[in-house]
Amino acid sequence: MMDGFSGTNRSTSSVAEEHDRHVIAAELGKVASLLPPIPEILFKLERELSIEYLNVNRLANLIRTDPSLAGAVLKLGNSPFFRGARQITEVEEAFQRIGKDNLRSVTTMIALAKHNLPTKGLMGSQMHDFWKHAMLVAAGAVQIAKTVHKDREVLDQVWTAGLLHDMGALLAPLLYPDPWNQAFRQILSMDTDGVADSMVQVYRMNLGVDHARISGVFAEKAWRMSPTTSVLAGYWPDPATVDPPFVAWAIHRADQVAQSIGICWQPPKTRCLELEILETDSGAGPACDPAFCKASVERHIPLVEALLS
Ligand SMILES: [Fe+2]
Repeated sequence: MMDGFSGTNRSTSSVAEEHDRHVIAAELGKVASLLPPIPEILFKLERELSIEYLNVNRLANLIRTDPSLAGAVLKLGNSPFFRGARQITEVEEAFQRIGKDNLRSVTTMIALAKHNLPTKGLMGSQMHDFWKHAMLVAAGAVQIAKTVHKDREVLDQVWTAGLLHDMGALLAPLLYPDPWNQAFRQILSMDTDGVADSMVQVYRMNLGVDHARISGVFAEKAWRMSPTTSVLAGYWPDPATVDPPFVAWAIHRADQVAQSIGICWQPPKTRCLELEILETDSGAGPACDPAFCKASVERHIPLVEALLS
């Protein structure tokens, strides 16, 4: 197990990257009224969940302030995935069944669904596909990261970055309308299937930045996430540039698995079809092994289906 983890940073941050960061932040500022605000309830929940001695009654009362959230928490607690011996009707009990991560997933999804995010960036896929992919990557990345890190704070950061890892793809057409159209045309005209990371490459070629960088700046500037969460959401396609690289690899590998099993919003031509075996000096630790990554992600499919049912 790694000791003394004090957050994830960039090992180097070039002048060009800093420039990109400022450009993306400025573009985000121009479309600020269209961006989803950080869900107020999520912010309050985070405060409650971070208290060492969790007060379940207070948490449940907070959940009840949003009837659609309370309904979703009860529905999830009674879903086949979690169903215990009997039907539950109290939010407290439902929370104890589903746990913190799933409460965050439901809360984020419900809040963002209310915002009516633009879907052009999904290139023909549905919002449902986007969230299914995002939640599977979040849960799978935490599962992978858990083998090395036991610290709850680190795992929470991995989870949030996993959930936001593709957010930039939703925002890209707003921020870079013409280059995005060009990128989409390029994807439509691709004639080879399943080139790993090709979505990231197409974005870089046409927009100058990939969608992950937009996700990272969004996490940092719009949602005021921690530096570690923002770095992970922004640089998961390049784990080698992140220090230490392992948690970024956890997100990257979970993303590759989700793409390869078709739980993905990306056009099929841009998906990774098969995970390669990584060298141990990559810093990917147990995530070097494709079978381990696949098992870590696939075990969460029933949960994600319950969350979205
Ligand atoms: Fe993804």
